[in-house]
Amino acid sequence: MAESGFHREGEDLYAEGVPLQEIADRFGTPCYVYSRGAIQARWERYRQALGSQGTLCYAVKANSNLAVLGILAQVGASFDIVSAGELARVLRAGGDAGRVTFSGVGKGTQEIRRALLAGIRCFNVESGQELERIDRIAGEVGVKATVAIRINPDVEAGTHPHITTGVEASKFGVPLEEAESLITGAEKYRNVRVQGLAFHIGSQLTSVAPVAEAASRVAALYGRLRAAGVPLDHVDAGGGLGIRYADETPPTPKEHVEAVATAFAGMEPRLFLEPGRAIVGEAGVLLTRIEYLKSHGTRRFAVVDAGMNDHLRPALYDAWHEIEAVGTTRRSADAVDIVGPVCESADSLGKDRYLEVTPGSVLAIYAAGAYGFVMASHYNSRPRPAEIIVDGQHAHLVRRRETVDDLLRGESLLPRG
Ligand code: LLP
Repeated sequence: MAESGFHREGEDLYAEGVPLQEIADRFGTPCYVYSRGAIQARWERYRQALGSQGTLCYAVKANSNLAVLGILAQVGASFDIVSAGELARVLRAGGDAGRVTFSGVGKGTQEIRRALLAGIRCFNVESGQELERIDRIAGEVGVKATVAIRINPDVEAGTHPHITTGVEASKFGVPLEEAESLITGAEKYRNVRVQGLAFHIGSQLTSVAPVAEAASRVAALYGRLRAAGVPLDHVDAGGGLGIRYADETPPTPKEHVEAVATAFAGMEPRLFLEPGRAIVGEAGVLLTRIEYLKSHGTRRFAVVDAGMNDHLRPALYDAWHEIEAVGTTRRSADAVDIVGPVCESADSLGKDRYLEVTPGSVLAIYAAGAYGFVMASHYNSRPRPAEIIVDGQHAHLVRRRETVDDLLRGESLLPRG
């Protein structure tokens, strides 16, 4: 796991130059720990793969911690957002509104207005009604909005159904057949300029073949529209590149870029890519401490202090995350289920693991940097965990652990009757 920013020295697991045991003792558990070096290295690798053909946008939804966004803003990232909340985060982190693309199937009126006032670069539009709404609001604000139309290319991505987004049954994008008339008919909208096409077929892709197929369908439309005189100049191919959770061998950023670029050979649009998971996923772990051991017949359980509210992926997608003790690589002879404190049987972080488990010892759940904290909730009235970024020898608390007071803020009792 060295290139993720995590490595062992002797038996001890480190994030860059800091032992994870020290972080758990100092900041408490559960906590998310990210490696600054790993985030930067992964960004740089993708950026180099894309080169001067296009623009790399970080998909904020994967991990929207301000300090993570700050790291990326500092290296000149563009950003892909899906809400006004994400826009506010990007701006607060020092990102540039002019480098923001706004994706998402249900952009609200206020969200569109705020994005136009901030001066974002482009909206990826997902329906005729949305195009009409953007046109109206842009007229009110007195600006011309740049948009791309998100195409639903009807390609099976070969990933989990919950994160497949480019098939007919999914709510995303505009079907290919409809897109052409929508775009040629968009001339009637005075306050929008249709400049690109977009697609995103799914996430945690472990092959680029479906991306190449989707790209070639979108490229055919791109060519037809250009020939008809529509001044398109860019294509946004979304994100989706997979990472290694277990034994996957995901494609490289270079393979991802090539799969898209090849389909558009001869047309050379400016390419936008929107990776999230591939930038931050392997650059983070979740630390959790073992509270209790118990067994039911032959089934053994280690009850830990992180639950599905802190880390939802295993419960929601049946996702497999590698789990190791931070202080030992010794394995147990018998399987143990790593389960959380939440009152749901789905609250399991890892089934059938061969780990040495001792009450009080700290476990690291790997590849938790993407869709980890951002999907955390307060279920069971549990405050959300702290987030820490390690930069060389220093561990920085970048989000303090929530308190019970944080949970109650904003609620009120009814007036006394
Ligand atoms: N662009 C668009 C339009 C997207 O919908 C997404 C992800 C991305 C980019 C970034 O995809 P990535 O490179 O991170 O795969 N919660 C799920 C993943 C949901 C992804 C949603 N859209 C999970 O934990 O696996």
